[in-house]
Amino acid sequence: MNTLISILYLALIGLVTAIPSSLIPRQDTSGLVSALKSCISLQNSCNATTVDLSNFYNYTSCFLLTACMDGPAQVLSMSQAPATQPRLSESVFYAITNGNSYMTQQNYIDAYYHQISITPGGSYPDDVTDITDQWSHIAAWTGFCATENIPYANLTDWLEYSSVPGVCPAVASCNTSTTVPMIPCVPQPITENGSCAEMANQCQFWVTQGLFQNEYCVLASFCYAWSNTDVLLQQVYPSDTSPTPTTAQEAKLSEAVFYNMTGGAASMTQQNVIDAYYEGLTGTWSSLDGTLAGMPEKTDKDGPYPASTDYVIEFWGMISAWTGFCDTRTIPYDNLADYLSFAATSGYHPTC
Ligand SMILES: *[C@@H]1O[C@H](CO)[C@@H](O)[C@H](O)[C@H]1NC(C)=O
Ligand SMILES: *[C@@H]1O[C@H](CO)[C@@H](O)[C@H](O)[C@H]1NC(C)=O
Ligand SMILES: *[C@@H]1O[C@H](CO)[C@@H](O)[C@H](O)[C@H]1NC(C)=O
Ligand SMILES: *[C@@H]1O[C@H](CO)[C@@H](O)[C@H](O)[C@H]1NC(C)=O
Ligand SMILES: *[C@@H]1O[C@H](CO)[C@@H](O)[C@H](O)[C@H]1NC(C)=O
Ligand SMILES: *[C@@H]1O[C@H](CO)[C@@H](O)[C@H](O)[C@H]1NC(C)=O
Repeated sequence: MNTLISILYLALIGLVTAIPSSLIPRQDTSGLVSALKSCISLQNSCNATTVDLSNFYNYTSCFLLTACMDGPAQVLSMSQAPATQPRLSESVFYAITNGNSYMTQQNYIDAYYHQISITPGGSYPDDVTDITDQWSHIAAWTGFCATENIPYANLTDWLEYSSVPGVCPAVASCNTSTTVPMIPCVPQPITENGSCAEMANQCQFWVTQGLFQNEYCVLASFCYAWSNTDVLLQQVYPSDTSPTPTTAQEAKLSEAVFYNMTGGAASMTQQNVIDAYYEGLTGTWSSLDGTLAGMPEKTDKDGPYPASTDYVIEFWGMISAWTGFCDTRTIPYDNLADYLSFAATSGYHPTC
């Protein structure tokens, strides 16, 4: 899912204070705002026509709303529709494709503009490239950059799987010069269960004090082992900081944080990390006024926890391999500090 689009979307519908975290775009976004305004206007026809929320993709307007928003799960949740849905109706698909077995970029553009024209309060985008950009993202996810013609099965796969956290496309968009700013997708194994995203949310409250100076941010740095901490910084850094700092600019791992996690021992064990990771997700922080500027407060909310401790074992395995401690999976301070400071740019991704 395109994080930036979702945040802009929430901002536009005035919900931004309801999300405890995440960023506001720092790039120029006037074109994006026009595209989103148009996209959101489709909600009027999706709402009006949807009589059966448990068959959401049986409605052209709801399918188009999902496509332009680039976040199927989010659109379902916004629309208060069940998260599990039947596949896209063939009748909706073939109506848009004029009976062809694949949907072209032009089919999508035509359907989009037609739907806007019949939507009460429908808002046209300023520029058709806003719409072609959306299609490029879906074509990229489904693996049809060559033609941007997407067959039925692959389009329905996009609806079903593209919002699963950690499921990343090979490329974010078929258009490499697209102006839509993209934060790279963070690949994660299925066992992650949203836990790393939550750890990054927790980190967000303290990241400006240094990525490696706070336990939540250190744990988030660990679970970003499938990505890297430069991407983590892009995800969690406040929007008004431009440019976002990189890992190389971050101070070395705090000894206080390290020894707190090891209980004073000179090396960090796998069990230390499992304990700290679960503790970090217990009684999570939230800000009183819902914005990052507000004072965070500890709540009695827990999780989401990973589906199993194997998740922690897996990322700790990658860190153990990088530092050369596969045999014990117990890592001394200096080696762990080096991993945090240098792994992001090392281009070295060994596993145990
Ligand atoms: C659409 O329906 C949802 C759920 O009932 C509601 O929250 C939302 O405000 C509606 N949107 C519009 C544009 O009517
Ligand atoms: C899908 O919508 C059409 C009307 O557009 C309706 O006739 C049909 O019964 C719906 N299909 C399902 C499975 O709900
Ligand atoms: C499209 O979907 C079909 C059927 O599921 C699958 O076999 C094929 O690999 C998919 N194509 C791409 C490019 O992913
Ligand atoms: C790629 O994106 C740029 C910027 O949005 C746009 O000007 C250009 O027309 C796009 N190219 C294609 C082939 O869609
Ligand atoms: C030390 O660990 C405890 C429990 O894990 C935690 O509550 C506390 O915030 C940590 N202190 C520091 C300085 O990170
Ligand atoms: C995954 O997270 C959800 C909360 O988002 C939680 O209800 C569920 O128990 C977690 N799954 C496992 C296997 O722990």
